[in-house]
Amino acid sequence: MKSFIAANWKMNKTIAETREFLRDFIPSVKDVADVDIIIAPPFTSLAAAGEALMGTNVQLASQDMFWEEKGAYTGEVSPAMLLDTGCRHVIIGHSERRQYFHEDDAVINKKIRAAKKAGLGVIFCCGESLEEREADKTFDVIGREIEKGLEGVDAENLVVAYEPIWAIGTGKTASPEQAQEVHAFIRERLRKLYGSAAEDIRILYGGSVTPENVELLMACRDVNGGLVGGASLKPDSFAKLVCYKKEK
Ligand code: PGA
Repeated sequence: MKSFIAANWKMNKTIAETREFLRDFIPSVKDVADVDIIIAPPFTSLAAAGEALMGTNVQLASQDMFWEEKGAYTGEVSPAMLLDTGCRHVIIGHSERRQYFHEDDAVINKKIRAAKKAGLGVIFCCGESLEEREADKTFDVIGREIEKGLEGVDAENLVVAYEPIWAIGTGKTASPEQAQEVHAFIRERLRKLYGSAAEDIRILYGGSVTPENVELLMACRDVNGGLVGGASLKPDSFAKLVCYKKEK
């Protein structure tokens, strides 16, 4: 299975900073053929990034979108607008969207359905908080997020990201054992939904992934890639991550 490593820049980088990053980053990964490399800049940088990435082996993603096709939705961005910038994927259900923008499972499900209908690949995020983990609710929470978030959604062009909230931006990475345990659970849930097609769904780990810990995480059976925040903001750091096999 081809691994999938995505940069989630969150609310970072102007258009000029995006161009500068890509100028350094694109040549440093041009020979990588065994990883799907994805960059998700903020909305304002998508068009410039789309132009810079044309004809390269780096693909563009958005961090969010709205589910309607067009109309009176001040501030929102439609799937067609994302496709227009060169986006091929969209991150949906990130814990920061759930937490700060009150996106619930129903909203996330609507967004996933709309994205897939428009032909965008979906990077669907799930994960438990520290409180939920300590209360032994990890599997309940993730089971519910998958069941409700993926209701009526097929397996095509679907990538799932496991991001324990306690590991995001904290420097506290899940151990490879902790990651594998949850990834195996997610794979099992995907089998229930999709049968044998579940074997081909990439399950990414996200939460304080760095060039130093990526290899151990990627060695886990059901870890098929990474969703990277902080360590994706510098071209050399993200290139090291993407080239983790060659860095050995
Ligand atoms: P982090 O963020 O790598 O900075 O922990 C990951 C994410 O939220 O996607």
